[in-house]
This record gives sequence, C-alpha cells and structure tokens, in this order.
Amino acid sequence: MKIDGKPTRTIWLDEDGRSIGIIDQTQLPHRFVTTRLATLADAAHAIQSMQVRGAPLIGAAAAYGLWLALKADASDDHLDRAYATLLATRPTAINLKWALDELMAAVRNRPRAERAQAALARAGEIAEEDVAINRAIGRHGLKLIEEIAAHKKNGERVNVLTHCNAGWLATVDWGTATAPIYMAHDKGVGVHVFADETRPRNQGASLTAWELNKHGVPHTVIPDNTGGHLMQHGLVDLAIVGTDRVTAQGDVCNKIGTYLKALAARDNNVPFYVALPSPTIDFSVSDGITEIPIEQRGTEEVATMTGKTKDGRIETVQVVPDGSPVANYAFDVTPARLVTGLITERGIIGASRAQLAAAFPERSQSR
Ligand code: MRU
Repeated sequence: MKIDGKPTRTIWLDEDGRSIGIIDQTQLPHRFVTTRLATLADAAHAIQSMQVRGAPLIGAAAAYGLWLALKADASDDHLDRAYATLLATRPTAINLKWALDELMAAVRNRPRAERAQAALARAGEIAEEDVAINRAIGRHGLKLIEEIAAHKKNGERVNVLTHCNAGWLATVDWGTATAPIYMAHDKGVGVHVFADETRPRNQGASLTAWELNKHGVPHTVIPDNTGGHLMQHGLVDLAIVGTDRVTAQGDVCNKIGTYLKALAARDNNVPFYVALPSPTIDFSVSDGITEIPIEQRGTEEVATMTGKTKDGRIETVQVVPDGSPVANYAFDVTPARLVTGLITERGIIGASRAQLAAAFPERSQSR
C-alpha cells in the first residue's frame, strides 16, 4: 500500500542483499521508523517484541529469519536450533510454523552450500504469495461490501467493524480483513470503518487507524466495548476480522476481544466474517478452545499505556494501581457457529470442516 504516495511493504530484502528491512511497528503511529534485521537473533527479537506482528507477517519474518541463520551457518545443527528459536517467539499464529516448515522442506535435503540461497528464494516466494493471496481475499470480500452498498439509500456508506489490525501492516501487503475495504474504497464504493482500539497494545487505535488514515479511508476509532452498542443501533453493516489460526472445524482464534464482537454480532444479526489466507488454517487441530495455545504476554502491556504528549514526547504511564495483579491473554477463540463466513483466497466459504476441506483439499489431506 502507499505511504504518502510511495508504495511500501512491511518487509523487504534490503538493498545490501544481506539483511531484511522492516517497518518497526512498535513506533507507530507517532513515528515511522524502518530497521534492518541482519541476524537470526534480530529476526527472533523483531517477532517477539512485535516490531513485526500479525499472523502472515510473522510467517514471512520467520522465513527470512531462517535465511539469516543459514547465511551465518548452514549446518544441520544450526538449522534445527534456528527453527526452534523462531518457533518459540510467538505460540498462537500458525503461520509461523507453516512458514518455518516450508523453509525446512526447501533446504533440508540440499547441500550446505546451497541452503542459504534456497531459503532466501522460498522466503521471497512466501512474501509474494502472501500479497497475491490477500489480493484474492480482497476481490472476494469486495463483493460482500458491494452487495450491502447496493441496498443503501442516499449514498450512505457501508459501515464495517474490525478488531485489532488485520491490515497491510499485519501482512506483507493489502492485509486480510482490510483488503476488501481498500478495494471498495479505491473503486469508489462508500465505506467507513469502525476500528476497535484493541487494548492492551492498541493495534486498532495505533495501526489500523494509521493505515486507513494514510490511505484516506474514512474511519472512526472506538473503545473496545463500543461495538455491541453500535450494532444494537444498526450502525454496523458487517464485521470483518482477521485470524491467527483457524481449526479444521472452522473455529477462529484471533486477538482477544474478537469473541465478544462475534457474540454481539450474532445477537444483532450483523454478519460476522473472518478473512484468512490458507496458511492460517491448521488442519491438525479441531477444537480451537481446548487445542490452540493462547499467548500470555507481559503484564506491563495491561498496566501501562504509551502515547504522545501535547508537546510531542512519547511517554508511557501506568494506568492500574501499584500492586494490582493483571492478566494479559493475547487471543481468544470464536466458535465456528458464530462465524457467518470465511473469506479465503479461493472464495467465501462456511466455517465448517466440510467446506474447509473442500476448498483446501491439498492441505487437509496432508494431515
Ligand atoms: O498480536 P498481534 O498484533 O500479532 O495480533 C494480530 C491479530 O490478531 C490479527 O488479527 C491476526 O494476526 C490476523 S492478521 C492478518
């Protein structure tokens, strides 16, 4: 997507040919900073600290991370250790494991001298595939927005609610949940986004709002608890969220708070769609609630908030009393029964075992 008119991606091979460039997302929305990853440790740190985040981008970063590791040492031992190091960075988004397994398959049986080059080639393909997948998701999801727009009177806009950031910052480009929105906007279909702020890390307020703002998409940031009220008053036409893992039976794991939005959507007959690239499907698990590991992050993310002061300084302040215990579950699971449909690169399908297996037979059968 474009930043101030300049096409930009979230991750790229640096001009030096030896390192990876990323946007440091921990600095947004107040500072646009890019940084270079030159080693396995840099890549692991970038994923863990959420300089790069969002399931598809985590996968791409891990793939490049394995290349950086092999460039330094292409032995079997180092390859296995690098795989384990990267896999341990974040537990919930399955794209991480998917991408690492893809890289392993690409390099494992090659002579050492060829491994780094093969890893770089596969990592580059994964990044390009992600862009193509998200474009396809955008084209399918666009039809949903256009159908709703066709029934609007007096040029009213289609109101889409989204949670967290499943935008282009969470992928290599386009985003998943936002791809249909960008395509609708670019086509002149009136669309307006309610972006949940998404405490504790505020990916909605800091990242989704930043993206939409840069692209000129009308939007409103709302506190996390507002969506239900808006839905009761007919102010949300549909919800589209991203996901970190979809199980074989169609359960959807996504940023904490997604489940509550799905419940509110069901109670108010608001269609609740999940946009996902196929690498986010984990055919090895069925019951999302019991089988998906839910990341628990540092308590400081809940106990503090970071923002810009009136005189332009970035400051972090504590928002809970000294000594109050806090909990920080990063994801929750929305059961398949609450999901209206899955927007995939192969079309919009029901959140069910049969429809997932029919749409992605090559993935489901390899299980
Ligand atoms: O903790 P994050 O910021 O990595 O969580 C991101 C999300 O939950 C996204 O909705 C999900 O990864 C899908 S991104 C296309």
